[in-house]
Amino acid sequence: MDKPIGVIDSGVGGLTVVSELIRQLPKEEIIYIGDTARCPYGPRPEKEVRAFTWEMINYLLTHEIKMLVIACNTATAVVLEEAKEKLSIPVVGVIHPGALAALKATKNDQIGVIGTEGTINSGAYHRELTNINDNVTVQSLACPDFVPLVEKGIFFGDVACKTVTEGLKPILATEIDSLILGCTHYPLLAPLIQEIAGEKVEIICSGDETAREVSALLYHKDLLYTGDRLPNQLFYATGSDSMFEQIAKQWLLLDEVTVEKIHLT
Ligand code: DGL
Repeated sequence: MDKPIGVIDSGVGGLTVVSELIRQLPKEEIIYIGDTARCPYGPRPEKEVRAFTWEMINYLLTHEIKMLVIACNTATAVVLEEAKEKLSIPVVGVIHPGALAALKATKNDQIGVIGTEGTINSGAYHRELTNINDNVTVQSLACPDFVPLVEKGIFFGDVACKTVTEGLKPILATEIDSLILGCTHYPLLAPLIQEIAGEKVEIICSGDETAREVSALLYHKDLLYTGDRLPNQLFYATGSDSMFEQIAKQWLLLDEVTVEKIHLT
């Protein structure tokens, strides 16, 4: 079907999901909204996250999207179920795919999850994991200092190393053998997290898994685009469009990115 996939995030983090979508589904058109003016969502009350997320969804619905991807863990935790109920198009979040991948990866049934305060306090990963397999032990930890690092483009070096080492200490003291990066910003820190966690811990990036779920759903619902036109990816940001453009080019390895600044209400 020749309609775009809508992708929303609180900011630039959802681009880690877009990069996997482009890699796995290169013919599909994507319309993305990053609510960069109001990022981060992690520390915000649930009511605010819900209101902001619905503003993004309603904006995208005016573009006749064929599927909605909530590429933000915090927004997925709050809005996924009601979006599935209210919308007539398929809706995919990032929590279920990440949970499934961790359940597949773990050998000792000890799974770690790191995310924003909002995601961790919601208990959404814990619920999802134990609903599928109640033998697993889930260790959850909020790492609020990681998002600012990524937003500043600090993925390596002394500051990043110190912040990530300190942040992960409590969860690495447990017996986990797989660690879900339950925040769309964290995959940018994945090489560092892997180095600090060591080889015994498998790192799970929900972006890869989410793109796989999108792909499977498009196929099963007969919504895949099978024509020959070149996809036109469109990005909206509520904050600075030039900053978003710079990050999108860098993360998506694209020469040209069309970014438009919008105001959501
Ligand atoms: N995109 C958010 C998430 O995946 C992280 C950034 C934020 O706090 O808004 O939870």
